[in-house]
Amino acid sequence: MQLLQLLPLALLPGIWASCQKVPVATTRNGTYVGRYLAEFSQDLFLNIPFAKAGRLENPSPYDESWEGLRSAEWYGNICPCPASPRSIRNANVTGKSDDCLNLNIIRPSQGTLKRKDEKLPVAVWLYGGGFADGFGADLNSNFSWIVQASVAQDMPIMAVTLNYRVGFLGFPGGNEVTAAGVTNLGLKDQRQALRWVQENIEAFGGDPHKVTVWAQSAGANSVAYQLLAYGGKTDEKLFRGAIMSSGSIGIGNAVRPNREDAVQGYQAILNATNCLGAEDTLDCLRTAPLDQVFDAGEATTTRPTWWPTVDGDFIAHPPSEQLEAGDFPHDVSILAGTNDDEGFVLANLLGPATGTEDELRQLLKTAFKFARNKTIEAVLWAYPSDVPSPPYALPMSATPRFCSALEAINKTCGGVQYRRLAAITGDYGLIHGRRDMARKFASLNMTAYTYRFDTWPISFPIQTQYETQPGFGGHSTEYSYFFRFPRDYELYGNNPPVAKSSSHLALSHAISAMLIAYVYTGDPNSVLIPNVPTWPKYSVDKPSNLVLNATEVPDVLNIHIEPDTWREEGMALWAKYPLELDLAMGW
Ligand SMILES: *[C@@H]1O[C@H](CO)[C@@H](O)[C@H](O)[C@H]1NC(C)=O
Ligand SMILES: *[C@@H]1O[C@H](CO)[C@@H](O)[C@H](O)[C@H]1NC(C)=O
Ligand SMILES: *[C@@H]1O[C@H](CO)[C@@H](O)[C@H](O)[C@H]1NC(C)=O
Ligand SMILES: *[C@@H]1O[C@H](CO)[C@@H](O)[C@H](O)[C@H]1NC(C)=O
Ligand SMILES: *[C@@H]1O[C@H](CO)[C@@H](O)[C@H](O)[C@H]1NC(C)=O
Ligand SMILES: *[C@@H]1O[C@H](CO)[C@@H](O)[C@H](O)[C@H]1NC(C)=O
Ligand SMILES: *[C@@H]1O[C@H](CO)[C@@H](O)[C@H](O)[C@H]1NC(C)=O
Ligand SMILES: *[C@@H]1O[C@H](CO)[C@@H](O)[C@H](O)[C@H]1NC(C)=O
Repeated sequence: MQLLQLLPLALLPGIWASCQKVPVATTRNGTYVGRYLAEFSQDLFLNIPFAKAGRLENPSPYDESWEGLRSAEWYGNICPCPASPRSIRNANVTGKSDDCLNLNIIRPSQGTLKRKDEKLPVAVWLYGGGFADGFGADLNSNFSWIVQASVAQDMPIMAVTLNYRVGFLGFPGGNEVTAAGVTNLGLKDQRQALRWVQENIEAFGGDPHKVTVWAQSAGANSVAYQLLAYGGKTDEKLFRGAIMSSGSIGIGNAVRPNREDAVQGYQAILNATNCLGAEDTLDCLRTAPLDQVFDAGEATTTRPTWWPTVDGDFIAHPPSEQLEAGDFPHDVSILAGTNDDEGFVLANLLGPATGTEDELRQLLKTAFKFARNKTIEAVLWAYPSDVPSPPYALPMSATPRFCSALEAINKTCGGVQYRRLAAITGDYGLIHGRRDMARKFASLNMTAYTYRFDTWPISFPIQTQYETQPGFGGHSTEYSYFFRFPRDYELYGNNPPVAKSSSHLALSHAISAMLIAYVYTGDPNSVLIPNVPTWPKYSVDKPSNLVLNATEVPDVLNIHIEPDTWREEGMALWAKYPLELDLAMGW
């Protein structure tokens, strides 16, 4: 560990001035000294190693111990990822390294707690980023406001953020990788962190029996993988609840670690790192310069999408089939939701210029290369271009408005066929999995709460760090609302801020209060918020979503309940053909 500092207690700044302000915690491995964050009255413990792993190796528990004190005052290394220099600088992390499996703890300081002996429920954050990007210290997932709000509503919780490996280094593929069993490394990292929390969080004042995983996008997909891990056959109890925003199950059912594009991608990486022809190519990659291996993994010409794979081990079966079979622990609950227009991210990637139905048909055949012609026809039938009012922020018929939004940012607009593609990809990629999980949970008498985020954060277009997409209820538009960020909080270009309107701020406060309540008690209704209806548990007979909407009128919320029965024909297809209707991962 690079930041290892063994300090005599007396040398710590401020220790004489106010002893109780310097937070200290003793884990299995040794004692950490954290940092008091005065502006929030919080304690931070940062850069705590939870596992050890060499490059392209499975992680194992951190195995060092020490006497005395070790500093946990500053963020440490993050795993190699394409995150922008600005967001890395602003988070003040040390750098990118193979040695990156560390976590961070944010807790209310002891002085702010009413009940001194109460063990705090724990939210563990798993970042999104398409399994290709992200890091725990990212200020986009700054939990200080959530933790502060939890104290204010007398439901104090603490939060943990962590790093897991992404891209080729987290989700490698190819024959050698498959044979060596070093697949799904990023998911195994997450699991080691969850185990560390079970073993050590009490030392920080947390309650290991009250852990909720909180995640968005690929992080939420990760939650599904953790739920189904090892065929559902482990008796590990790592979390009691999960907040899954815009991600769940459904993508990747047909993705194997030794698929053709991964085999080719691996060869290209060997070539780029001078490892081609090495006796043991994995060994060669393990000792090659990190930048070289990382860049080769990112190289766009040869890059398959490095993604979790059905390896027969961590992901034992195609997840949609395993969900349907009910093979997973039944003592957890979920709170899951999606946004109106999730599909634009994928549609932009696949073909915003799609202009005719036949172009759309060809595009779907290329994207879903395992699908039979009749299955593609079934998709086109289930997603007609003239549906009157599906719950999208922007109806199919609003094409001229939609196109002018795209044209304003110099994007070609395929018009209604592009809108249709976005409807298809949204349900495929994100929305149907949310419904499938809720239905399965309800059928097993398990608890699920679901929402639909039906709010436009700002007028379109939304400019993100990665791309410009039309506004409306697109992917990640809920992000700032859920994190309760103040309107002027700098998000470094990643996610749109809460709209400048008191009703939108009220919506943000309402949903974040309910999320805190869910982490605290397991029930989002355990906090009382005026003008917000009771969030019904999902049921087979009466499947319902909480619709999160804010109006244009100051302070007036429009949170209401709707039946979760829209687009039955389309939504049913994905679970019916999970292996056929899966993206060929070369896109
Ligand atoms: C360090 O902590 C980890 C996680 O709790 C534990 O698995 C490991 O046994 C500890 N190792 C030592 C040497 O204390
Ligand atoms: C950034 O972190 C370093 C330790 O890695 C610390 O010394 C420095 O004060 C931090 N800077 C800010 C602005 O927090
Ligand atoms: C969150 O952001 C605030 C303001 O930028 C900063 O002071 C604080 O340290 C951050 N919290 C965490 C947990 O990084
Ligand atoms: C191998 O690498 C060389 C030089 O780096 C490059 O010119 C060549 O195209 C690569 N071949 C393949 C198959 O990627
Ligand atoms: C599927 O459709 C393509 C044209 O898109 C056609 O060439 C092919 O023969 C069809 N396959 C079958 C089995 O009908
Ligand atoms: C669109 O292209 C025009 C002409 O090239 C340019 O002036 C304008 O700045 C571009 N707009 C955006 C949002 O990129
Ligand atoms: C769910 O609960 C109902 C009513 O209590 C009961 O009839 C049913 O057998 C339960 N189903 C399962 C799968 O446990
Ligand atoms: C949802 O929010 C948008 C944006 O604030 C608003 O225009 C619209 O009327 C709301 N929808 C409903 C059904 O209230």
